[in-house]
Amino acid sequence: MNFKDKIALVTGASRGIGRAIAETFAAGGAKLIITATSNAIETVAKEIGSQFGVEVISFYGDISDENVVKSLFKTIAEKFGRLDICVNNAGITKDGLSMRMSADDFDAVINVNLRSVFLVSKEAALMMMKEKYGKIVNMSSIVGVRGNAGQANYAASKAGIIGITKSMAVELAKRNITINAIAPGFIDTDMTKAISDKAKEEFMKLIPMERAGSAQDIANAVAFFASDMSKYITGQTLVVDGGLLLK
Ligand SMILES: NC(=O)c1ccc[n+]([C@@H]2O[C@H](COP(=O)([O-])OP(=O)(O)OC[C@H]3O[C@@H](n4cnc5c(N)ncnc54)[C@H](OP(=O)(O)O)[C@@H]3O)[C@@H](O)[C@H]2O)c1
Repeated sequence: MNFKDKIALVTGASRGIGRAIAETFAAGGAKLIITATSNAIETVAKEIGSQFGVEVISFYGDISDENVVKSLFKTIAEKFGRLDICVNNAGITKDGLSMRMSADDFDAVINVNLRSVFLVSKEAALMMMKEKYGKIVNMSSIVGVRGNAGQANYAASKAGIIGITKSMAVELAKRNITINAIAPGFIDTDMTKAISDKAKEEFMKLIPMERAGSAQDIANAVAFFASDMSKYITGQTLVVDGGLLLK
């Protein structure tokens, strides 16, 4: 897809789905700003920049912190002067049965997965409104649609993302800014490597396509929402799960 000279922000792009999204935009000619909490993001920015011949800036910090987000957008304003595409991808898990889950583990997941989407989308929308153009894509999960034992915090954060997506879509529609969400199923990344082989086997039985998805499967769906191919679609959540939710 053609993203020539578009300015795209991807949060949580040091690996997994975020990195695949960043590479897909770079392959289409976008200029990028990519974030993570580890300084591995600097190396990733250099690798993507040299592989695809585009400008890639790295930003290092916890995007659930309002001051960090303000500083991120100051950097975007100084380096690029505008933002066309914003992908809220960063996410974490801290699983456990609700009865045993600490309030700290609940808050940590809500903050990184949901509060960050509010903070980043708010700044993105303010910047995009000036250009009367923008595409925001939020990373939800099928767990936010159907729930999952052991993931009350994660499910709440991902369901919350669907709520933010619908609400902001209505607020921003007349400004020519679309905001949509993706709900991935079981995707092969570091996040799912932590799951035991037995639990993985059980998951595979639930997937009609009988395989985990790849980070690129998700990046392709993000590219659709980030492109003008989807310009009359807003407030929607696209499930990308090999049919898992159908079972
Ligand atoms: N994998 C799946 O099956 C699956 C399914 C449904 C939804 N998702 C969602 O898809 C997104 C990406 O998942 P993934 O599987 O690619 O996960 P991953 O491999 O664990 O990558 C997560 C990324 O988020 C970054 N990150 C974590 N906390 C952050 C913070 N506070 N501020 C900024 N960046 C932060 C990580 O970098 P650092 O560690 O360096 O900070 C990393 O780059 C997440 O939102 C996840 O919930 C994944």
